[in-house]
Amino acid sequence: MRILVAITGASGALYAQRLLDNLDPREHEIHVVQSRYAEQVIAGELPGGLRPPAEAKLHNLKSMNAPFASGSNPPDAMVVIPCTMGTMGRIAHGYSEDVLLRAADVVLKEGRKLILVPRETPLSLVHVKNMELLLLAGATILPANPGFYSHPKTVQEVADTVVARVLDHLGVPNQLAPRWAEEKE
Ligand SMILES: Cc1cc2nc3c(=O)[nH]c(=O)nc-3n(C[C@H](O)[C@H](O)[C@H](O)COP(=O)(O)O)c2cc1C
Repeated sequence: MRILVAITGASGALYAQRLLDNLDPREHEIHVVQSRYAEQVIAGELPGGLRPPAEAKLHNLKSMNAPFASGSNPPDAMVVIPCTMGTMGRIAHGYSEDVLLRAADVVLKEGRKLILVPRETPLSLVHVKNMELLLLAGATILPANPGFYSHPKTVQEVADTVVARVLDHLGVPNQLAPRWAEEKE
């Protein structure tokens, strides 16, 4: 699969890092784009910064010279992780002024998989209405709501309960987090 990982300026940069850690570049073509505010949050939350796989292709937010800026060459899937309410609203309303937003627009119009991972709480009616629009347009909204039934012991294990669901929705086989009622080997 060709997968675009888009990172925005919401808290939860670790979710993006763990997704990148668990996408095998030998199996997938991985592309990464960051919003301007993503850099600020990553600097505050990820000691050492973001560590994408060496094989990943990093894209400049302001350049439309990326394949997925055109409907003729969309990715198979795009994950916006973590997704701010601002980016969610802009995608819901068709703003396409940078390559991250344009890619989401392309993914929706070409019927590819768009997974949005918001962290915001509480939600306003504006947020919920934007989510409604996006669901109607075919996006998957997968809130960063960790599960605790597997008794995660570290922050990474907590984050992985969310990332495991993202991988499930991408169709990427994974054993990242224990599944409910799973048979023990
Ligand atoms: C440390 C930090 C954490 C933030 N967390 C969130 C968040 O969880 N959700 C959100 O919608 N915005 C959050 N924001 C605000 C966004 O970064 C801000 O609205 C920004 O304009 C979003 O731009 P972007 O969508 O292009 O990344 C946060 C900002 C900072 C500095």
